[in-house]
Amino acid sequence: MLKKKKLVILTGAGISAESGIQTFRDSDGLWEQHRIEDVATPFAFQKNPQLVLNFYNERRKKVRTAQPNAGHKTLAELEKYFDVTIITQNIDDLHERAGSSHIIHLHGEIFKSRSCNNPSLIYDCPDTINLGDLAEDGSQLRPHIVWFYEDVPQMEAAIGETQRAEILMIIGTSLQVYPAAGLAMYAPYDALKFLVDPHIPEVSHIPNLEIVNANATIGVPELAERLINEYGGDST
Ligand code: APR
Repeated sequence: MLKKKKLVILTGAGISAESGIQTFRDSDGLWEQHRIEDVATPFAFQKNPQLVLNFYNERRKKVRTAQPNAGHKTLAELEKYFDVTIITQNIDDLHERAGSSHIIHLHGEIFKSRSCNNPSLIYDCPDTINLGDLAEDGSQLRPHIVWFYEDVPQMEAAIGETQRAEILMIIGTSLQVYPAAGLAMYAPYDALKFLVDPHIPEVSHIPNLEIVNANATIGVPELAERLINEYGGDST
């Protein structure tokens, strides 16, 4: 058996845009309609928990009706040819539903809830979270989402994976939110690096980056075909 090359893929909201899930910072993005300070910080939840729960209950509803697109599905297919790890900033489950098997959710998962007092008490959350819904430690349940100003517990795992990347793909992220935006800098200098996005963010700091200026449903399958043909077998 030939050893598969290690392919690490960082995804952002752009990969789910063509599944009908709004991005954050495009002109029709979520942060045009909501203030981050009102719905996505620990203080927001202390000040107006109902507003924050409503916001994420609505997100959950939207994600439930969305379907994985050709971008997600192609990444799942790539597991046949590469040792794939997906590091996603997305809270949706479209990578899972497309069939990818090794996914790190940097910013949490919309279909999970957790205790406000104990981050290790995590539950499946298929439906809404309401005020008065309690974890087993008696504290209010909150969305299992990493809010602004909170730690990113999966970051260490994500760095470890990126450091071992032979190929790095970045798809559909404005690279404005740290620490996720800094991940590419942990990839080996000589790793092959690609970025797929219809609006290229500031990337001058990332060495040897090839840009694919396209939507995910077009750019990802095209790039995948190239990678399979050129590198989809032996890693030695
Ligand atoms: N295909 C690929 N990329 C797309 C598409 C598409 N069809 N449509 C838009 N994009 C790109 C945009 O050009 C932009 O670069 O997706 C990116 C979306 O950027 P953001 O809205 O900033 O989303 P993201 O980078 O994932 O945000 C990071 O910010 O608010 C937080 O926690 C939230 O995880 C999120 C983080």
